[in-house]
Amino acid sequence: MTEVATSQHNLPAALSTFVGRDNELRETRRLLGATRVLTLIGAGGVGKTRLAVHLGAAVLDAYPDGVWLVDLTPVAHPRRVARAVAGVLGLHDRAGTPLVRLVADALQGNRVLLILDNCEHVLDACARLAEHLLRACPALQVLATSRAPLGVDGEQLWRVPSLAVPEPPDTPDRVARSAAAELFVQRAAAVEATLRLGKETAPAVASICRRLDGIPLALELAATRVGALSVEQIAARLDDRFRLLVGGHHTAPPRQQTLLATLEWSPALLAARALVDALAARHVLTGSPLLSLSSRARAMPSISRRSSCAVAASTSSSPALYLCQIRRRSSNGEASRTVVSNTS
Ligand SMILES: Nc1ncnc2c1ncn2[C@@H]1O[C@H](COP(=O)(O)OP(=O)(O)OP(=O)(O)O)[C@@H](O)[C@H]1O
Ligand SMILES: [Mg+2]
Repeated sequence: MTEVATSQHNLPAALSTFVGRDNELRETRRLLGATRVLTLIGAGGVGKTRLAVHLGAAVLDAYPDGVWLVDLTPVAHPRRVARAVAGVLGLHDRAGTPLVRLVADALQGNRVLLILDNCEHVLDACARLAEHLLRACPALQVLATSRAPLGVDGEQLWRVPSLAVPEPPDTPDRVARSAAAELFVQRAAAVEATLRLGKETAPAVASICRRLDGIPLALELAATRVGALSVEQIAARLDDRFRLLVGGHHTAPPRQQTLLATLEWSPALLAARALVDALAARHVLTGSPLLSLSSRARAMPSISRRSSCAVAASTSSSPALYLCQIRRRSSNGEASRTVVSNTS
């Protein structure tokens, strides 16, 4: 972690090692020098928050009035986003003054980096707040992390890649050079101190990294199984990854304690629920509709049981556009039709 002694910030101290990301830090730092709102986007568990915290620590000197991290994970309602920011800045309600105004007044003229972390479930509220603050406070910069873009004027998007995975042949040297394997081995060694990357284990470790696409959260979850299973057994059981990757740390947010939970927190599914509401509000849906599930969601039994809508469009190409196939049960059988809707 970068030295942060003299500056103002509330960045959490790291409890575990930080792996790789030299290029990513260089590139995002360069972008912060050129834009006022930078959003790190990417799949669940790819490492957006971890990178943002590291980046914040690396650029502290550039923000004499502080780098302030607002974790929006526990914020359940969009209306509470401004309150969360005010809380981090140590502001108290003032009768008759809207919170947004209070925050803008406090940041006025200050050189601050505000990190809005984990925005996806309160995206619109974050976008509105960020835009308001950026207009009102010319020296302010915003760094956001989200599974989908905020959609703010002037927003620079930057997709966080997964960690580099080993390329065959899987010799111990080559495998050890990949960031994904480094993370897996470090976390696995914390569970089973005798684990080494040798001739016998390297192919299985490489296979785990490749099959988990170098996603840090998935690698960490897989590493927790090392005490109970050999790396070969873990690699062999990844076909059933949703059952295998369930043993996250109890201190992690609930959405990161299993691989399934992390996928369920996807903005696609959250937005799909919003779409169902929007369609219902426009009376497109009547009765109790049965909405079909995308093949991706169908592959996850507990999602298909709980969710009511399919998201067939890719969230990366068009986060606001969703294709839902709506089926209605009727006395003559099941009628089906497709609705394309923009939820924004
Ligand atoms: N470069 C890294 N080095 C070490 N650990 C990492 C790294 N990147 C991510 N991790 C770990 O992987 C897990 C997931 O990372 P993180 O919470 O940053 O993902 P995220 O993309 O923000 O996920 P979400 O979409 O759920 O918010 C965390 O336990 C984190 O500490
Ligand atoms: Mg995050």
